[in-house]
Amino acid sequence: MIRSATVHDVSRISEIINSHAELGRMLFKSYAQLYEDLRDFAVYEKDGRVAGCCALAIIWADLTEIRSLAVDDAYRGQGIGRRLVEWCVDECRRLQIRRLMSLTYEQPFFEKFGFEVVNKDTLPLKVWSDCVRCPKRDGCDEIAMVKTLWDVPMIVMPTTAPTPRGVSIPVLEYVEE
Ligand SMILES: CC(C)(COP(=O)(O)OP(=O)(O)OC[C@H]1O[C@@H](n2cnc3c(N)ncnc32)[C@H](O)[C@@H]1OP(=O)(O)O)[C@@H](O)C(=O)NCCC(=O)NCCS
Repeated sequence: MIRSATVHDVSRISEIINSHAELGRMLFKSYAQLYEDLRDFAVYEKDGRVAGCCALAIIWADLTEIRSLAVDDAYRGQGIGRRLVEWCVDECRRLQIRRLMSLTYEQPFFEKFGFEVVNKDTLPLKVWSDCVRCPKRDGCDEIAMVKTLWDVPMIVMPTTAPTPRGVSIPVLEYVEE
């Protein structure tokens, strides 16, 4: 069963993510980060125990990011990772956002779901906000992958005029598909 995460899941989410992080498979997450991002998280529960988790973060009007996708080693190979990715895709479609991205070491896994490798330079700088906390920030070897939901219409990208007192509010540049 997949459901939105609650505060009761945080210690288990932390345990699963950080068990992979210490093997260099993904980034560590602190409790502070997990509570802050809890609304982005879904968990997969099996026999009353959380077996996997993932988060879908909104980056911009045309881009979301799958983060913290992790399945407890004891439950791997049972289709839980697949269900979690499908949850992210459904959620992205519900939000009417056309593209999902992932920064990953698991290229063949994500290819199964229609993600394609892209040049990291095509992603908006906002994606790299977590890098300051990453031990590999000076030699990033993660692969950037994107899936486009072709049935979701392209959105007219937002622009902002300066406020009445002349303050400019930043917007991200359009990224070519
Ligand atoms: C990658 C991960 C999420 C896969 O979860 P899982 O529950 O074992 O995957 P599933 O059982 O749902 O597998 C779905 C499909 O992907 C395949 N698959 C699973 N892991 C794979 C891998 N590492 N490479 C290639 N294919 C893989 C399965 O064979 C299955 O294929 P099928 O549907 O054709 O039979 C899990 O191994 C994990 O938590 N890894 C460590 C953390 C990590 O790397 N997360 C991704 C960070 S972005």
